[in-house]
Amino acid sequence: MKDVLTVAREAALKAGGILRDNIHGIREINYKGDINLVTEMDVKSERAVVETLLAAFPGHGILAEEGTQIRNDSGFAWIIDPLDGTTNYAHGYPCFSVSIALEHDGELVLGVVYDPMRDELFTAQKGQGAFLNGKQLRVSGVDTLIKSLLATGFPYDRKVHEDNNLDYFRDLLMASQEVRRDGSAALDLCYVASGRFDGFWELKLKPWDVAAGSLIVREAGGVVSDLSGGKGSIHDSEILASNGKVHQQMIEVLRKTKVAG
Ligand code: IPD
Ligand code: CA
Ligand code: CA
Repeated sequence: MKDVLTVAREAALKAGGILRDNIHGIREINYKGDINLVTEMDVKSERAVVETLLAAFPGHGILAEEGTQIRNDSGFAWIIDPLDGTTNYAHGYPCFSVSIALEHDGELVLGVVYDPMRDELFTAQKGQGAFLNGKQLRVSGVDTLIKSLLATGFPYDRKVHEDNNLDYFRDLLMASQEVRRDGSAALDLCYVASGRFDGFWELKLKPWDVAAGSLIVREAGGVVSDLSGGKGSIHDSEILASNGKVHQQMIEVLRKTKVAG
């Protein structure tokens, strides 16, 4: 029987290839809200991932963004975002990914994130380190916030709810070197793991946005928590991930913003 990493890698490469080949040929865009869209390719990518995983592991559970849900008592659950960065994809902006994680008895044991445009495959297994195209990853050594390159994102309901991250964004932009908004939370986390970003935070995310990336950050020596430094979980909606060295400094800014808010 093939091991879980081999199969997850196969699934990510297959789905990523489909996305890459069709980026300029999307015909159908539907809206889940006024700015939250879903393309036919989200659905096709999910089908490719699910078929590949279930062909190898027919008894496993599945939680995937575009609707595939299989709950069972196998102890294994795959958590899938078939296209993280749909808005980018629909505009032809080449920053998006396929994100696949595996939980065993509620614990993250594997994460794979694939960026098909750069052919970058980020992988991690619990206790075995994190890798980019097979090369071991390590978070950055930057230890002050003012020298840090951070990343974040904004929720789809930002126009109708006040907790839209704009206050945190303003204050962390002033306290850091720069803040990027790239549009794929899974890749943002992998960039923390690879030292390209020093920290990342976001609100109102879903388990499939962060499951694979969280394990990849931890296995690269980084820290993942909620916004106040608590343990956090992929089922919470907020996340703070960093190289560990600037974690407390980010928490301090977020705390002050909240108190002032
Ligand atoms: C989105 C991306 C984006 C983040 C959004 C997510 P989607 O996922 O991860 O970076 O800011 O909150 O919903 O909708 O492209 O799969
Ligand atoms: Ca997503
Ligand atoms: Ca998605």
